[in-house]
Amino acid sequence: MRTAIVYASKHGTTEKVARQIQQQLGEDKAQLFNLKNNPKFDLSHFEQVIVGGSIHAGQIQKRVKDYLQKNIPELLEKRLGLFLCCMHEEEADNQFKNAYPEVLRNHATAKKVVGGEFRFDRMNFFERAIVKKIAGISESVTKIDASKIQEFVEEMKNGNELQKPTR
Ligand SMILES: Cc1cc2nc3c(=O)[nH]c(=O)nc-3n(C[C@H](O)[C@H](O)[C@H](O)COP(=O)(O)O)c2cc1C
Repeated sequence: MRTAIVYASKHGTTEKVARQIQQQLGEDKAQLFNLKNNPKFDLSHFEQVIVGGSIHAGQIQKRVKDYLQKNIPELLEKRLGLFLCCMHEEEADNQFKNAYPEVLRNHATAKKVVGGEFRFDRMNFFERAIVKKIAGISESVTKIDASKIQEFVEEMKNGNELQKPTR
């Protein structure tokens, strides 16, 4: 089964996770699409689509929101996985719900919050100041949850066969 992994990443963490998912699915079976370089692409050859993004100031990237809104009918025809990178654990479930439209959350075979990172080397002055103030952190930390990524991939591999939506 061929998989498209569609993502946006501000400081590279979602991209890192997307690459790990690609490796676990098999590089010959999964292709990466960065929404920054590739806003339009043809998914007709992919049976599975995975969408990933990250939370900044409570919101997923606008690129991901716009992509999902424009492509809901096509995504409902595919086996779907949704993952999210973020650092505020207590807010993770709410942020996930807010990030992904209900109709896609209900349709998805696998849904996971996979942790995240604060990468001070990639942040600008304002981002550093915000993270210091809100999270009280002033150096890089990695909290990517490898077990959640593995569970996500297993669910994508083993999930139910696609049920085509009835019209
Ligand atoms: C300026 C800034 C604001 C952030 N705001 C939130 C937030 O509101 N909630 C949260 O859970 N994580 C927040 N994060 C953490 C990011 O989701 C985390 O750094 C993530 O790994 C970024 O992934 P990316 O590099 O792929 O964009 C924020 C990070 C930065 C730098």
